[in-house]
Amino acid sequence: MNLIIGQSEPVNRLKELIRQVVDTDLNILICGESGVGKELVARSLHAQSQRGNKPLVKVNCAALPGELLESELFGYEKGAFTGANMQKKGKFELAEKSTIFLDEIGDMSFALQAKLLQVLQDSVFSRVGGVEDVQVDAWVIAATHHDLEFDVQNGKFREDLYYRLNMIKIVVPPLRDRKEDIPLLCKHFMRQHKGLAKGRSVVLGRELEDLFQEYNWPGNIRELENFIKRLMVFGDSGPLCKELNMKIKNSDGSKTFSETWVPDKSALDAILADCRADMKRGFPSLKSISKKSIAVIEGMVIEEALKRTDGNRKQAAELLQISYKALLYKIKDYGVMIPGQLPPE
Ligand SMILES: Nc1ncnc2c1ncn2[C@@H]1O[C@H](COP(=O)(O)OP(=O)(O)OP(=O)(O)O)[C@@H](O)[C@H]1O
Ligand SMILES: [Mg+2]
Repeated sequence: MNLIIGQSEPVNRLKELIRQVVDTDLNILICGESGVGKELVARSLHAQSQRGNKPLVKVNCAALPGELLESELFGYEKGAFTGANMQKKGKFELAEKSTIFLDEIGDMSFALQAKLLQVLQDSVFSRVGGVEDVQVDAWVIAATHHDLEFDVQNGKFREDLYYRLNMIKIVVPPLRDRKEDIPLLCKHFMRQHKGLAKGRSVVLGRELEDLFQEYNWPGNIRELENFIKRLMVFGDSGPLCKELNMKIKNSDGSKTFSETWVPDKSALDAILADCRADMKRGFPSLKSISKKSIAVIEGMVIEEALKRTDGNRKQAAELLQISYKALLYKIKDYGVMIPGQLPPE
């Protein structure tokens, strides 16, 4: 059974939302950082639905290149390509009267997105190399850790497909927003992986419990589960406390950096607009594009590093892990503003 462990408010809300949307047959998009439990949510949705007595059909859209993924999803006819010696059903057909879980949908190629859109609109498709329409009744649940709205804006994900998939959006919260669930999760994982302890009794210990509350969990529940697995194997929380202490020390800096830095995306938009303008004349060279993009991104990061060091270029160079001389060159080259100084001529 796919149990979502947790009694925090965000998890209770998540469970309630799952109850509400089960059996609506509306397409569902599950979003959230890596390791938050997106697949678990998909499995719970399926298990609680009327379709739950049939197996859930999972496809990892990031694992296969475009053409292979197309035949994996839609199947193929005999003779469709070399080696296609007989007709093969695709995952959509296998999910008839069941649920298809399209994991990592954000990584699907643009061309295949069009074919998927057709299935979502009309519930029909044709196998690769075939002409016959195949009707299908499958509940579609998709998941991604991408920011799909951002991908839509940047032309990487089809807007029409996004709206089709996004009939119901379920956002799975990161573990750092529901730390009160950690004790329950630990108990659950210790029970689940007790085989690893080979009969020894293992306890968490007060110090590790406290560190678990302090840590920010960038890898979310999967990271916590892996910690518990290692605890069960080693039976001693000492090395884990040491490791976590170090991670907390190191992650603090990056946390304040990443959480307070709001990059000015308009500069990147300008590059893309430039690119589009170039394309009217012909294709821009990749070299010139990478030069321009690197200059913009490096310039923004250097500006931020200078802000954080109150314009101290030596400290900024250390922060950026480049030499002082290289930093001076880049500041001049990109025309970066130094706090407290007049803009370069
Ligand atoms: N609330 C929860 N209760 C119990 N186990 C959980 C919970 N959330 C996640 N897990 C477990 O944590 C692990 C990671 O979850 P899952 O694979 O669903 O995450 P994900 O969001 O799909 O990750 P990724 O983005 O890396 O694919 C799994 O073993 C899952 O069973
Ligand atoms: Mg997953």
